[in-house]
Amino acid sequence: METPIVNLTKKDLETVYEPSEDSFLLIDALELDLENLKSKKPGLCLEIGSGSGVVITALAKALGHFFASFFMAIDINPNACKITKRIGRDNFVDINVVQMDLVNLLNKTNIFDIVIFNPPYVVTESLEVLDERLISKTWAGGHDGREVMDRLFAHIPNMLSPNGIFYLVTIKENNPTSIINMFNHWNMKGEIISERKVRGEHLHILRFTRIN
Ligand SMILES: C[S@@+](CC[C@H](N)C(=O)[O-])C[C@H]1O[C@@H](n2cnc3c(N)ncnc32)[C@H](O)[C@@H]1O
Repeated sequence: METPIVNLTKKDLETVYEPSEDSFLLIDALELDLENLKSKKPGLCLEIGSGSGVVITALAKALGHFFASFFMAIDINPNACKITKRIGRDNFVDINVVQMDLVNLLNKTNIFDIVIFNPPYVVTESLEVLDERLISKTWAGGHDGREVMDRLFAHIPNMLSPNGIFYLVTIKENNPTSIINMFNHWNMKGEIISERKVRGEHLHILRFTRIN
């Protein structure tokens, strides 16, 4: 998968997440899974928490050659929304961006073929999750680093199409095994498809699909 061109100014980086090891591990995992993704002929692809837009843009570039898919991105940070749109445009793909808290305003009608989330996963005080500063939203995960991602999980089975796939970035402290067990109760199979230890973080990419 081609890595998109991402030009961010110093001003952008005051509020928006700079593509980092986690972003690139996620892009690498999507690339390794590309044939599987193509076999699903995805129509509607969503990234939650798109930040700079590097991940959804990479996906749009890779799949756009084959399918007339619709690419959508959500971020709580209005600056991230603008930059996701801009990075898409700079890389000749159209990303439809909506500012939203997770998926609160979406109709959960089992329509998304691919959902991706690289959440704020760092273990912090719960109070930090409520910090109004936009840059804190990129990393502050509260208790076990799970407070933001946990709010999304129960929506996933209602959002995914029958063959849909959900990709999630976690670190060891988030207890990925307990997340996989939680999804099992919702009749979804989860597995770690990629991991990397880098600068004190043990990153994982999790993939979830329905158990048929
Ligand atoms: C770790 S950054 C990932 C950015 C980008 N996806 C990447 O991989 O480089 C987490 C992103 O989630 C967004 N975010 C945090 N809380 C959110 C929420 N409640 N709803 C939507 N987006 C949120 C942040 O603004 C930030 O852009």
